[in-house]
Amino acid sequence: MNKGNIIDGKKLSQETRIRLKEQAEKFEAECGRKIGLAVVLVGENPASKIYVSNKIKACEEVGLKSFAYYLPETASKQDILNLVEALNDDNSVDGILVQLPLPNKADEKEILARVSPKKDVDGFHAVNAGNLLLGNDSLSACTPSGIIELIKSTGCEIAGKHAVVLGRSNIVGKPAAMLLLQNDATVTICHSKTKNPAQITSQADILVVAIGRKEFVKSDMVKEGAIVIDVGMNRDNDKLYGDVAFEEVAKKASYITPVPGGVGPMTITMLMSNTIKAAMSGKR
Ligand code: GUN
Repeated sequence: MNKGNIIDGKKLSQETRIRLKEQAEKFEAECGRKIGLAVVLVGENPASKIYVSNKIKACEEVGLKSFAYYLPETASKQDILNLVEALNDDNSVDGILVQLPLPNKADEKEILARVSPKKDVDGFHAVNAGNLLLGNDSLSACTPSGIIELIKSTGCEIAGKHAVVLGRSNIVGKPAAMLLLQNDATVTICHSKTKNPAQITSQADILVVAIGRKEFVKSDMVKEGAIVIDVGMNRDNDKLYGDVAFEEVAKKASYITPVPGGVGPMTITMLMSNTIKAAMSGKR
């Protein structure tokens, strides 16, 4: 078996963005305006600032109009809700993204619930999460959608494979499991209370790791020939590390995503894709 193939998320992302740009241009020609994405950043979280700036750059690349709103750390829940409501009513805005985490984490649920499900390009609203669960067409969360595209890019079939998702967050683990299920994988979710996760991960044909712990997955946790998708973004001394010990796991995996350059670029590309999808649905 061919081992250690690196799934190039940057390349897949660039190829996908070319197609998205064509769709965005077609929309503009037909509707007389650019597709618009509003990005809301509250406070000064350094990682969030980088993500937001990358999202705005991606809009330029694909030909979307970005509306950036920077609110101070001191912004109240009501200030944020007022902005979200104004964006819900703004016809030039097709997608709304509130960058997480918010300085006041306790406000997140209510604020995300207020984003119109039609403009919820993060796929975090209960309506979109519920539609994903039901297998209905929906705006689904960007990182999990990117994960599916990365797996498909290997040419390997997902149907019938045992996919193990390490992590059960609402942003990655749960929606990734649902999308894998929608693609006919047999899905197991492992989390912090799972007994002996290594025994389960080592049976995975497809292993998705999203637990936020630097190089947690070592080669003895991985099956020979598995496809390994590393969602981790762990910063240590200004260097970025995945949740997977890349060097040793690459020797065993058939395909593996690097960090950086794997899942990250595809997440933002799927955000562009969702924004175009939201705009097209709004047109009908
Ligand atoms: N913070 C970390 N990941 C994400 C994401 O996908 N969307 C938003 N809005 N915030 C995030």
